Amino acid sequence: MAERNIRNQPSEDLPVRKDEPQVLIKDLWKVFGRDPKRVLKSDLREKSKEEIQKKTGCILGMKNINLSIKKGQFYILMGLSGSGKSTLIRNIIRLVNPTAGSVIINGQNVTKMSGEQLLQFRRKTFGMVFQHYGLLPHLTVLDNAAYGLKVRDVPKGERYAKAMRTLETVGLKGWEDYYPGSLSGGMQQRVGLARALANDPEILLMDEPFSGLDPLIRRQMQDELVELQEKLQKTIIFVTHDLHEALKLGDRIAIMRNGEVVQEGTPEEIVTQPADEYVQEFVQDASPAKVLTAGSIMEPAKVLLYAWEGPKTALTLLLSNKRKAAFVVDKNHKLLGVAKDESLAKLLDKGEYIEKIPQSSIRTVPTVSENTILEDMFSIITHNPYPVPVVNDDGRLMGVVTTDQIFESITPAEGDENG
Ligand SMILES: Nc1ncnc2c1ncn2[C@@H]1O[C@H](COP(=O)(O)OP(=O)(O)OP(=O)(O)O)[C@@H](O)[C@H]1O
Ligand SMILES: [Mg+2]
Repeated sequence: MAERNIRNQPSEDLPVRKDEPQVLIKDLWKVFGRDPKRVLKSDLREKSKEEIQKKTGCILGMKNINLSIKKGQFYILMGLSGSGKSTLIRNIIRLVNPTAGSVIINGQNVTKMSGEQLLQFRRKTFGMVFQHYGLLPHLTVLDNAAYGLKVRDVPKGERYAKAMRTLETVGLKGWEDYYPGSLSGGMQQRVGLARALANDPEILLMDEPFSGLDPLIRRQMQDELVELQEKLQKTIIFVTHDLHEALKLGDRIAIMRNGEVVQEGTPEEIVTQPADEYVQEFVQDASPAKVLTAGSIMEPAKVLLYAWEGPKTALTLLLSNKRKAAFVVDKNHKLLGVAKDESLAKLLDKGEYIEKIPQSSIRTVPTVSENTILEDMFSIITHNPYPVPVVNDDGRLMGVVTTDQIFESITPAEGDENG
């Protein structure tokens, strides 16, 4: 880094630290129409979108936006149709040019870049995923995923290797030679995501990427994106209409109305302290089942059996705790499943010495992760007599969630029915 400074490299190559804003949006305006600057120069700038339109015919796309987005943040833009979300996203990479204000990315003023500079910068820094997948139908999945690299003149071997890797990342291994037309919507969107990721961009711009998908696939894609982000730690700016998508994915949310940001904060802040009626309306149907996660309501398992214990010890433990069954973990606290008193007793009936609970006496059970929302646990609790174990990526048991806990959490407290 010192060497870079001596050589006086442009700031674009200096890494942005995790706590610094990677995207800084300052006093950004967009007015569509003829001679839009006149709106900003006059007292019209204080007027509402409606009034500006009535007086000048110009449409206010974005009004005085100020946002700061940190590296690695999952940043959500939310608001009703026409509130300016897409306009903001497009202005960030100047697919649309702002009327006033600036966009600073990695310390560089994007609004001041020349055409050629901008093109290079865009290709290097951004990946984009939009609602309509924008795949090229005459190219295979592999060629679509490699497209951004081809545009950047990355040699064939390298770009295919990279594209293969990102296709694998998004779960499309084996589909390389197919054409987009033979893929489902969800799969096509994965190709779109792979194409955006193949460049290894620092910033991903996603404008309603999942809106065209049916609800189940959509939820699955959200889960996968959460998982992927955990690994990749990209800066993501993500537009959605859907509150639950926003709450599930976002580190921070900006709520837009008529071109303005009316509230900005963490999902929790937005839900618990909506700034005005508009936001209130947005969040009022934030059902706890869709907001609360297994991790937020789980409790430690009260009785645990250890895989290295013998069946007699395990059975004694169950009896003394008045339990019919309990979860079994190994020495790393990894969940192996559940053992029932009946099956342990049966082992003992044989009268043989058994050193440890045999695998055949341990039943596997469905598990969830700490991020699973309660709604996604309903199907498990209806088919499963046990509490639901919550495990981490390594399969370690983190806690358990009972059916009672779930229903208690999603039922409003007495006297609280109205909000
Ligand atoms: N090219 C354009 N010319 C004129 N007006 C535009 C243009 N693009 C957007 N607008 C206007 O800017 C405002 C914001 O539009 P934008 O597309 O950003 O909304 P949005 O929040 O993305 O909506 P949606 O949820 O429907 O996608 C709207 O009033 C729209 O009519
Ligand atoms: Mg839009």
